[in-house]
Amino acid sequence: MSRPLIYAANWKMNHGPGAARSFMARFLAVTEPAPERALWFFPPAVSLTPVAEAASARPDIRVGAQNVHWEPKGAFTGEVSIPMVQEAGARVVLTGHSERRHLFGETDEQVARKAVAVLKAGLQPLACLGETLAEREGGRTEHAILRQLDPLLDKVPPADWARLVLAYEPVWAIGTGRNATPDDAAQVHELIRFTVGRRGVPGRVPILYGGSVNAGNVLALLARPELDGVLVGGASLDADGWAELVGLG
Ligand code: PGA
Repeated sequence: MSRPLIYAANWKMNHGPGAARSFMARFLAVTEPAPERALWFFPPAVSLTPVAEAASARPDIRVGAQNVHWEPKGAFTGEVSIPMVQEAGARVVLTGHSERRHLFGETDEQVARKAVAVLKAGLQPLACLGETLAEREGGRTEHAILRQLDPLLDKVPPADWARLVLAYEPVWAIGTGRNATPDDAAQVHELIRFTVGRRGVPGRVPILYGGSVNAGNVLALLARPELDGVLVGGASLDADGWAELVGLG
């Protein structure tokens, strides 16, 4: 495929420093940089440094944090700050992953606040959006997406969108083995792009699709030009499996 594609691996709460080091040793041994393909890794915070160090000679690899606090420091037990993850090697930060929203109660406002802080620090947010099953079945997909997009559009100035990447991840497709069809995904990507453009954001904001992406469905998804890459959980956890998946496009 000729356009630049981003393959993002979200390891969630898997692969501590030792496992991350082994993963990277194997992954780097079986892959080579490819033009027009960026590989982003989101390990747990404690594994950022081992992954960043392992990938230091690979310009195609970028390391990111799964979550940060918006304040640079302070009395926030259990949180990590943007300067800390930056020092550990992160250049990208996931914001608003549905597990953060639904399991840990992050609001649309907080997600936007994090994205703004990430941009201000010179890092890149990968901001996630997606409807729940109830919202989809109730015909409220568009409403849910716009509700999540709005605070981002309100808080991030149009020029800063050049450094922002979005991920559309329908909640009902995450970790369920049930992925959106390429048509479903493309339709929501179009909606997002149309909305962002209407609010004055110049250029083309890259949008990844996520939710049960695997080696069997990635090609059909990426065949749609509305998709600029994929955000992958379960199928990114095995070094050989992930190398195979990123090698398919
Ligand atoms: P999954 O997770 O690929 O395991 O569905 C995707 C994600 O949560 O980013």
